Amino acid sequence: MSAAKVQVEQPTTTRQLEQYAALPFEIYSHRQAWWPPDTRSDVELLLGRTPITVGLEITPLWARRDGKALARVTVVVNPHYIEHHQEKLGHLIQFEALPNETAAAVAVLEEACARLRLRGLKAARSGFATFLDYPYAIDNYEAFPSFLLRANPEYYHAYFKNAGFFTEKGMVDYTMALTQQVLHNYRLAVSAARERGFTVQSWREYGFARAVDAWVDTTNASFARHWGWSPASRAQVRPTLALLEMTAAADLSMIAVAQGEVVGTVFSVPDLSPSLARVKPGVRLPPERGGGSRGALINIGVLERWRGQGVNLALAASSFLAMAQRAMSYAGYTLVLDDNWPSRKTAEKLAGRVTSSFVAYRRDF
Ligand SMILES: CC(C)(COP(=O)(O)OP(=O)(O)OC[C@H]1O[C@@H](n2cnc3c(N)ncnc32)[C@H](O)[C@@H]1OP(=O)(O)O)[C@@H](O)C(=O)NCCC(=O)NCCS
Repeated sequence: MSAAKVQVEQPTTTRQLEQYAALPFEIYSHRQAWWPPDTRSDVELLLGRTPITVGLEITPLWARRDGKALARVTVVVNPHYIEHHQEKLGHLIQFEALPNETAAAVAVLEEACARLRLRGLKAARSGFATFLDYPYAIDNYEAFPSFLLRANPEYYHAYFKNAGFFTEKGMVDYTMALTQQVLHNYRLAVSAARERGFTVQSWREYGFARAVDAWVDTTNASFARHWGWSPASRAQVRPTLALLEMTAAADLSMIAVAQGEVVGTVFSVPDLSPSLARVKPGVRLPPERGGGSRGALINIGVLERWRGQGVNLALAASSFLAMAQRAMSYAGYTLVLDDNWPSRKTAEKLAGRVTSSFVAYRRDF
């Protein structure tokens, strides 16, 4: 294919943004099962109209030949990240590209880096941006991924490397089989924490709106030194999480309290694949992947001064016990950095098995 005719531009009209948001359908819809994008929300995000994008500079770029989209990436300049980490780094989110289109993929990534350089930034990251982007799979390429995570085609790695990116971080996703023995051990972990004075309640029991605010505060504090994390405000998070009050997420997410203080939180969701995934007729997802039987712990945080006392285990175990009560037989523990020893140990103590691996890419200018 000739690279000469590939043009990299910014889509601007609503129609163009809709086409941009729909590119994943060309790449993934032949699969037996996948998570399609919510294109309406994605267009709102690209226009900077969602609470989570307040204050962010967002520039979608696509590479096209004869009007056909071949590759896309959205350039994000996040002042909250830059200030928090004191690092002049921009994020390249929503990357997708067709097969056998190296020139187009490299061209769109080159242009994205050029835009960041123009803004005075010194590096680009793709595959990790808080609430906005998730890392690239290095295994299970065609399998149905965990909620939020990618099962990108394997050729994406060559595209990034040809555009001068290198692997910056590795991450893994765990799966727990909720067997009777495992559930018994979870009950012991909850009792042990209770005896030490920690109370664990679901967000619904605690009061949902208060729990959302407590989650924002606890997450910002406990993730303050976490690689890649970008703080978010209560006002940014409330509108999205408020939608979950009427769902099982309110029963699966947990708050730990000691001496009247919130000391840790977990945010979990039920198996969303029956409502959000596209599964070809006649296909049954393996139960450890979805189909109603796999809940997912998305985020866990314990305030620094309360660590080392089993609050992590009690929070996650309470969430997984609540999943089991609702007929889920597997639980995900989603996305742990390879060097996040406390979290990896937490997952392993809860009988988690690494079931998918991922990387985030970086390019320094
Ligand atoms: C992950 C987190 C919830 C764990 O809770 P915690 O109360 O700190 O858990 P612990 O202190 O008991 O640590 C868990 C295990 O890791 C071990 N550990 C802690 N730091 C370690 C290190 N640097 N190297 C090796 N092991 C380490 C602990 O010894 C413990 O093992 P043990 O139970 O066998 O003693 C907490 O550290 C946290 O909030 N971290 C910041 C947010 C975060 O990273 N969340 C997870 C994102 S995936």
